Amino acid sequence: MDKERKLIVAGNWKMNKTVAEALDLVRGLKRELGSVKDIDVVVAPSFTALSEVSKELLSSNIRLGAQNMSENGYGAFTGEIGAGQLRDLCVRYVILGHSERRQFQNESDALVAAKAKAAHAASLIPIVCFGELLAEREAGTTEKVVEAQVRGSLAGLTKEQVVETVLAYEPVWAIGTGRTATSAQAQEVHAFVRKLLSTMFDEATAKRVRIQYGGSVKPANAREILSQPDVDGALVGGAALEERSFVEIIKNSL
Ligand code: 13P
Repeated sequence: MDKERKLIVAGNWKMNKTVAEALDLVRGLKRELGSVKDIDVVVAPSFTALSEVSKELLSSNIRLGAQNMSENGYGAFTGEIGAGQLRDLCVRYVILGHSERRQFQNESDALVAAKAKAAHAASLIPIVCFGELLAEREAGTTEKVVEAQVRGSLAGLTKEQVVETVLAYEPVWAIGTGRTATSAQAQEVHAFVRKLLSTMFDEATAKRVRIQYGGSVKPANAREILSQPDVDGALVGGAALEERSFVEIIKNSL
């Protein structure tokens, strides 16, 4: 696919897989995707599997991501994991502000922004998630909700940092429901966010930021969604847990 920005497809494994299962999957992905250069491929296993998966990915073109991190550095923060510890495992990306964390851990935009800043300070690339609830879409407030989340979650980042940030539009009603946004619905929000970025930063910066779509992305719909001009990749949940479907999503998008 000929795109303005390099596509980035990431698998968010959420709270799934033992270490053995994670290794099994990542070995298969290495075999199948070892020669892919035109798409940035990222896998984000649970913290428990990061160390082993990291070793398996040494000298691979597949990059490692984490699903969350603390906004603080080292110190007395029981149960938390800091950016420096992720760097220690050769993690390159970190998913921040996923709707499941916003919903179940009450993460706010301000917290997501603090985490994004901490990620940049450690040279990690944040994947900052945002997206509206079904009720918000039905009430016609999608743009208002998305604008507030994007403004709040990127607050305080410099232009240079935002270019090194990946955004992920994940409409909550499309996550794990089998109900995908149509490619037109995705494009509409992505174009809106890019315009917003040009107001918040400038047009040249906005043009360089990659915006992924997430929510029931499958091999059958990936190409159509990713071919939209402002959609620069996918954040994949369920279909990333199986070698065949994740590989097909990437191969169908080349
Ligand atoms: P599904 O692909 O399972 O809908 O999950 C999307 C998601 O939440 C990725 O972060």
